[in-house]
Amino acid sequence: MKILNFGSLNIDYVYRVAHILQPGETLKAGEMEVFPGGKGLNQSIAAARAGAEVYHAGMVGADDGGFLLDVCRENHVNTDYIRRAEGKSGHTIIQVDDNAQNSILLYGGGNRKITEDFIGEVLAGFGKGDILVLQNEINLLDVVIDRAYEKGMKIVLNPSPFDEGLDGCDLSKVSVFLVNEIEAGLLAGEDGEGSGKDEGRENGGKECENGEDGAKLVDKILKKYPEAHAVVTMGAQGAFYGQGSFRHFQRSFPVKAVDTTAAGDTFTGYFVYGMMKGEAIEVIMERAAMAAAVAVSRKGAVPSIPKREEIKMTGE
Ligand code: RIB
Repeated sequence: MKILNFGSLNIDYVYRVAHILQPGETLKAGEMEVFPGGKGLNQSIAAARAGAEVYHAGMVGADDGGFLLDVCRENHVNTDYIRRAEGKSGHTIIQVDDNAQNSILLYGGGNRKITEDFIGEVLAGFGKGDILVLQNEINLLDVVIDRAYEKGMKIVLNPSPFDEGLDGCDLSKVSVFLVNEIEAGLLAGEDGEGSGKDEGRENGGKECENGEDGAKLVDKILKKYPEAHAVVTMGAQGAFYGQGSFRHFQRSFPVKAVDTTAAGDTFTGYFVYGMMKGEAIEVIMERAAMAAAVAVSRKGAVPSIPKREEIKMTGE
């Protein structure tokens, strides 16, 4: 069983700010640092640091993509399916405030230059039972899903950012959804009053304390996609897993939050590793939650992702 991640690779320009900018405001930034990132790359590196063999497919810019390719190689992520497209790589401008919260401005660059021919070329190397990991930062996501499904691949989707890129996608072909509580509300088809999205915003996610709210969100996702597995991550309130009638709540591990960027990606990469190993869901969720907690306690995207040996599981 092989793991293919067809996803974004970004250069993150990260600015420390006292608070996230308001419309019309000019604000002096403190520190500025440049990190490798992108939801795709972060998830590939998390799975690789957990111990999986990962193939990453995507496009970086001819101008500046060498940095991202080097990062993949240094982290033992296979780069055979990463191409260089004319122009710049995807990049972001990330503000991180004093409470470790972030706001991300995303420029697609090379990530938006995926072609149907390239998709065919990549998927030719994979087949039935292989795991395909996807996010929503590349173009032609719908085509990747359709073609991978035809081949019998197991599709793991983190539909983030949750935007119009998902509109043409047949999400009934997805085997595993990994979402935060806001995306969960949107995925379950609720974007109006009383949705998971609004509740999460109004009460700061407090209703998720014992996994109750997460359980409701999982129920709603599985009602819509009954064949799928669903994982709803809720930051400090833990994470909830469901499939069929089985449910499992995983508490979060307390840490001093420094930067939440890539915490969800770390969870996803570690989750995929556990899936590939065929581990029990309790083990997969605990390790993923521990890895995400470590990522929150460090700066940046890729640099914050822990290696497997840094994660001490219960009983180890
Ligand atoms: O999930 C975090 C990532 O989102 C960052 O690394 C940034 O590149 C954006 O894609």
